[in-house]
Amino acid sequence: MKTGKIISTGSYYPEKILTNADLEKTVETTDEWITERTGIKERRISAETQCASDLACEAAKSALKNSGISADELDMIIVATVTGDMQLPSTACVLQDKLGASNAVAFDINAACSGFIFSLSVANSFIKAGSHKNILVVGVECLSKFTDWEDRTTCVLFGDGAGAVIIQPSDDESGILSTDIHSDGKYAELLCVPAGGSKMPPSEDTLKNRDHYIKMRGNEVFKIAVKTLENLVTDTLKKNNVDPSQLSLLIPHQANMRIIQATAARLNLPMDRVFVNIEKYGNTSAASVAIALDEAVRTGRIKRGDHVLLEAFGAGLTWASALIKW
Ligand code: COA
Repeated sequence: MKTGKIISTGSYYPEKILTNADLEKTVETTDEWITERTGIKERRISAETQCASDLACEAAKSALKNSGISADELDMIIVATVTGDMQLPSTACVLQDKLGASNAVAFDINAACSGFIFSLSVANSFIKAGSHKNILVVGVECLSKFTDWEDRTTCVLFGDGAGAVIIQPSDDESGILSTDIHSDGKYAELLCVPAGGSKMPPSEDTLKNRDHYIKMRGNEVFKIAVKTLENLVTDTLKKNNVDPSQLSLLIPHQANMRIIQATAARLNLPMDRVFVNIEKYGNTSAASVAIALDEAVRTGRIKRGDHVLLEAFGAGLTWASALIKW
């Protein structure tokens, strides 16, 4: 049984930059508050004409280019997103067509900010089963289109972008050593988009009440995230007999700098072994870990043989980790 190996990465973020100074002009906030409480300085905003599959397509093309395989060699496409092009069909199907990946089965996974690692886990199961050999996994979000730009408690947090990886069976001891995926639906209402689904279909009232936008009880989510992620990372390393001192790089979901620091502290990991790019992109949900992984690869932060730990936490609530030997 061969485990999966990430053979290439890619990412894309829209050109438009929205800074904290820009937000100071539209809601009652300050650069100082946003920087201190979150670590975010700016985020990317997709153009009016850009949707999730457009961003995903750019990231996927870059990962394909770096892999040396062509789109028609892909046998599976998994897209992690909560801001897909349409309610149906899946964004993965739209992406399949845009890439010309006609031999791939394509489907979406909704696990919010944990979606990319959930998708890695699902992809790796297919690789281990031996049924698929060239899997494209994309994390993509156009959160700006679901953000209430009048709500200062959420609009300063989110951004748009996409990250992608190609996974193949590993021929040596490198690859995905383990994945851990978890959910707890009793906290569903802490972070949600209430309207637009079968529970609250679109109506004049839902529009008037701004129910199609992201609602978050941030402080409650924050406390659960810190505790859960601390346990998750220690459990994952223990399960794999990897001491934190052997970890070359932690690539955390980029939601809040204070959450990232708390998780690193729990592992006694100095911040130079933690990948952080939250200041540039904010929280891009399912795209966050995928974009960070691509940047870490491109900037030479990951070498062959390194142990790399990915982790994320998000709506659902969901949380997930993946330990990789590069
Ligand atoms: N600018 C200025 N003040 C703001 C503000 C903003 N953009 N947003 C909120 N505030 C105010 C609040 O109204 C509150 O004021 P009050 O004390 O007068 O009521 C005060 O700041 C503190 O708010 P609070 O929500 O307790 O702050 P916090 O320290 O918890 O930080 C978040 C808020 C959202 C940054 C933080 O809770 C967080 O990151 N949560 C988790 C996000 C996350 O991980 N999500 C999961 C994955 S998507």
